[in-house]
Parts: sequence; structure tokens; C-alpha cells
Amino acid sequence: MGNPFVEGRVLSPPSTILVIFGASGDLTGRKLVPGCYNLFKDGYLPESFSIVGVSRTPLSDEAFREKLKDGVTKYSRSGIDEEWWKQFSSRIFYQPLDATKEADFIALRERLQRIGGDTIPNYLYYLAVSPSLFGEIAGKLKGADLIETPGGVRETRLIVEKPFGYDLETAQNLASSLYQSAKEEQLYRIDHYLGKETVQNILVFRFANGLFEPIWNRKYVDHIQISVAEDIGVENRGDYFDKAGIVRDFVQNHVFQMLSLLCIEPPNSLSDAEGIRNEKVKVLKSIKRLTPGLVQKHIVRAQYGKGLIKGLDVPAYRDEKGVAKDSTTETYIAMSLEIDNWRWSGVPIFLRVGKRLSKRISEISVHFKQAPLSLFRGRQVESLEQNVLRIQVQPKEGISLRVNSKPPGPRMRVEPVEMDFSYHSSFGIASPEAYERLLLDAMRGEATLFTRQDEIEEAWKILEPVFDSFEELPLYFYEAGSWGPKEAAELLKPYGVRWARL
Ligand code: BG6
Repeated sequence: MGNPFVEGRVLSPPSTILVIFGASGDLTGRKLVPGCYNLFKDGYLPESFSIVGVSRTPLSDEAFREKLKDGVTKYSRSGIDEEWWKQFSSRIFYQPLDATKEADFIALRERLQRIGGDTIPNYLYYLAVSPSLFGEIAGKLKGADLIETPGGVRETRLIVEKPFGYDLETAQNLASSLYQSAKEEQLYRIDHYLGKETVQNILVFRFANGLFEPIWNRKYVDHIQISVAEDIGVENRGDYFDKAGIVRDFVQNHVFQMLSLLCIEPPNSLSDAEGIRNEKVKVLKSIKRLTPGLVQKHIVRAQYGKGLIKGLDVPAYRDEKGVAKDSTTETYIAMSLEIDNWRWSGVPIFLRVGKRLSKRISEISVHFKQAPLSLFRGRQVESLEQNVLRIQVQPKEGISLRVNSKPPGPRMRVEPVEMDFSYHSSFGIASPEAYERLLLDAMRGEATLFTRQDEIEEAWKILEPVFDSFEELPLYFYEAGSWGPKEAAELLKPYGVRWARL
């Protein structure tokens, strides 16, 4: 099977039935079906491809299609075209199912056989349901002979969504419940950040250019920052979020995934999913563990109060639906970490993630050590800015390099300028949605962009001492629409650096 990082052309996957559990949910309508619609329009899906939506509510195929049409109209990146929709929607079916009833799984098997007809399509199950149901659904699928041993007549795979546990122990329990019915290689744990173009580009950027790899280490890099700012709050997920907090919701998965890709050693080859995933695990294993006593010095946690975003009054976190009035859950976190290995030892890594901040932006920046000032002494050049490589994940996907330059004129002055690469202007086409890429990869059995269980466990291990000390950490407050608590700036002071301007 080809690999996304080395292939010029995307191979069409083998014939597949995508079975979505949780078909009436948000994810199906907003991301999964609009994503498949765009893949279909762009010619990436196999000739024989169908979607079967599964959930408890009785619904006809027709009614299900109508419901999905709304979602595609609203959320498809290319809008909706009647003709394309007609062709696409004829491949969509609905099957009511109660996850506790074995008979319903037998009925599902018969339905899938009828839809497959003379072909033997692969079955790809998307469990867009609460993780508490993963084990039960997988078990019933297995019981109905709907999960086969890999390499059999058809491939059967399961895509699962976070949260992968609440801590190390629950993550291990969740995995054990899935392993009773499926093998690790059949499990595709989705982290949609890995489907984002710029995140994938980290590897191409590092390993396809001779320029960066030699300086990608402690000798030249001063520090690294990863910033994720969202202007949205908890939306309609207050219930879930209040139990999770931003560290579980975002750092354990998306941020650690970006960090590990950014810092991995070159794998043996980019065409082997395990090679890349092995290297990612090594990075996570090398992150210096914070002892409970050190957590205070390395972490700032905070929660948003009310404020103004895009001219609108927004409520304080504690006034959001589903959130406890005296909640101490963090909606913002800033942390400093270190990777204790040969390449990165001594390079501080600063992470900050928050909801209800001033704007939506995700950016990774690599700050290089300064050039010596000596040449410019006595020339009105007081200081030189560091060279900074910025990888902007969203919303404006691109990469830029800050270099010092002489502005025109008779005087010797030095000013920083940006050398910019923007996806939009260089390639002139819209990037696919993260889910499109990931769905296609799962259909093709390409697992590089999915998270392995050992990565999940390592990420939890890093955070264990953090959670153990949460109670003792102060909880700061920040105004919605601001850039977070002022204490986050203090965190960086001992290192003599500031947060990048976003
Ligand atoms: C999800 C988190 O995984 O990612 C949400 O649970 C967050 O809290 C979302 O808002 C952000 O995704 P994106 O692609 O909009 O950055």
C-alpha cells in the first residue's frame, strides 16, 4: 500500500462500505458525509462505494439522505451540486440498530451483504459514538462475523474517535475492550490534526529539503512554541468539556501529535507507517517528566470569564450550558516542556492552548539562536531578532521564515522581514478537509496518520504528574476575547523569551 508522504498519485481504495455508527450525530452530518461527498466528486472513491448509517432511530434511506443533504449543503467545502448529490446519495443507506441487540447486528450483516451484491467490499466501521460503547459494538460486530482476521477475504477496520480514556488506566481499559474483538492493526484512532495539510507538510518540509535538517537541533534551535487559539467556547459540549478540560481535550492528542512530528528523528523510510509511528513514540518517551513539585513552575492554567468576541458579548465559562457554576476546569493551559534526547536536550518547548481567545489560529514556531551582534557594533543596531520559522496550521495555511535584512537607504540598519509561502497562492487550490484525507487513508489501509495505542499511553504518562498536581495549582481567569492570562507571560520570563505574536 502506498504512503501519503512519498506518493505522487493517490491510489483509489478497494471497494468499501463505510458503516457509520452514530449516524444521527453531529460528526456524521458536519464532517464525515460532506468529506465523503468531496472525495466522491474529486474522483477518489472506488467505483463500488457505499455508506450505511446506523443508529437507533427508525428512518428510511430516503429520510436519512434528506437529512444529510442539509449537512452537505452547509458544510461541504465545495458546496453542493444537485447532479453530483444525486449520484452520491444513491450510495447512502440507513439501518436502524440497537447496540445492545445481537439480532440487530445479524440484520446489519444481511443488509451489508445485499448492498455489496456480487462484490466482496471491505467494511470500514466508523464508531462516531461515545467511547463507552466501543467495546460493546466491536464485540457484537465480531459476534455477527462482521470483523474478520486481517488478510482474510475482506479487510475490516474500525475508526475510533477520542477521547481515548481519561487517564492512562482508562485508556488501557478502553484498548483492552477493543482488543477482544479486533487487532491493533485494524484500529484506526483518528486525530484530525494529522489530517491537516500543514501538519503533514512538517515531514516533507523537514526531510525533503537539505536546508533545514542540519539545523534542526539543540545547536541551532533556541526554543519551540506551539500555540493553538480558538475564539469559540465550549459550544454545546459543556457537559463533556467540564469533565475533560483543555489538557485532555487538546494537549494529550492534537498538541502532542504536532510536537512529536516536529521533533522526530528521520525514520528509516517515509513509506512505512510503523517507522514514523515508532519515532513519534520515542519523542513522547523522551519528554522530561515533570515531578509534582515542578508542575507549578512549568504550567499556568486558567479559565475564561465573560468578554467580547467579534463585537459580541460572550458568557463566562461557568455560565455555559452543562458547566458547573463553581467549575475549576481549565479552558487555557500554558506549559513548558523539554525533550531529553541527543537532538533536543536543553531546548525549551512552550505550549499554549485556549478557548475564547482573541482569534482562531494554530501555529508552530521554531526560534533559532541569534547571530552574534559583534559585526554591527557601533552601527545603531541595538539587537538582532532571532530567525523564526513559523508553520501556520490554520486558518491561513502556510510557512514563513523571519530573516533580518537591511532596509534601503544610506544607513546600516537591520529589520526583520518575512519570507512567506502560502498554500493558497502557491498551489491555487483549496486544501481538502482533514477528515477527507483520513477517511481515504483508512479505506486504503494506510495507518501513518492514525495514532497507535502506545502513543496514546505515552501521552497520558507525560500528563499524569500534571493531573496529580492540578488541585494545588492556582486557577487564573482571563477575559474572553483576550490572549489569555497574564501569568502565561511570566512562565516564559526565566527563559528570556516571549510568546510569539499571533
Ligand atoms: C476537537 C476538540 O478535537 O478539536 C475541540 O475537541 C476543538 O474542543 C476542535 O474545538 C478544534 O478543531 P479545529 O480543526 O477546528 O482546530
